[in-house]
Amino acid sequence: MKRIIAPSFLASNFLQLASEVAMVNESAAEWLHLDIMDGRFVPNISFGLPVVEHIASATKKFCDVHLMIVEPEKYITDFKKAGADQLCVHIEACPHLHRVLEQIHDQDMKAGIAVNPHTPIDFLKDIIQHADVVNLMSVNPGFGGQAFIEHTYTKIKELRKMIDDKGLDTLIQIDGGVTQQNARTLFDTGANVLVAGSSVFKAADPKRAIADLLDA
Ligand code: DX5
Ligand code: ZN
Repeated sequence: MKRIIAPSFLASNFLQLASEVAMVNESAAEWLHLDIMDGRFVPNISFGLPVVEHIASATKKFCDVHLMIVEPEKYITDFKKAGADQLCVHIEACPHLHRVLEQIHDQDMKAGIAVNPHTPIDFLKDIIQHADVVNLMSVNPGFGGQAFIEHTYTKIKELRKMIDDKGLDTLIQIDGGVTQQNARTLFDTGANVLVAGSSVFKAADPKRAIADLLDA
């Protein structure tokens, strides 16, 4: 089964973005994860299109953009132009999710559904076939450095069963509180993509931290 690490730049040093991207470029990470927060869907504001554009132009890695914003459909072409390879939108922010996923695919990007910790896996059953990835939030979105919510393991198992029962190849992504201590269990439980902010960028040796997450 596919195993991917996606370092989250929310925890990076924004004054040293060039060297932070260079570090990820040289690392075992296949993706990089960019968290967009609007101060409305989540109680925090992160960074926007110009930052995504600069990071995307400095890497050949897959740019996974996590939109924690209301009305994400308004910005799909903007993020495509900025260099995004994938847009993940929140099920809780999209009353017309099917249409939004289509709009993302129409722009030749991969499309993902992000779900908050309280959102049941059952809510995905009539839409999952239209998503390339499901981002299971393992913290309440809005901030880096939070503790992993243990109930996520139950949700991974339910989601893995749904994907396998339907014969899909949807990736399961885990976002929030991922560390070198829980990475192996997450992969073994059925996750494919681990997002890691603090446990990568705050590590003494970030490249090593990425390798350790992958080989945990
Ligand atoms: C949280 C973001 C995460 C965050 C993860 O709202 O979606 O991607 O950057 O940070 P850590 O790994 O520090 O929990
Ligand atoms: Zn994220």
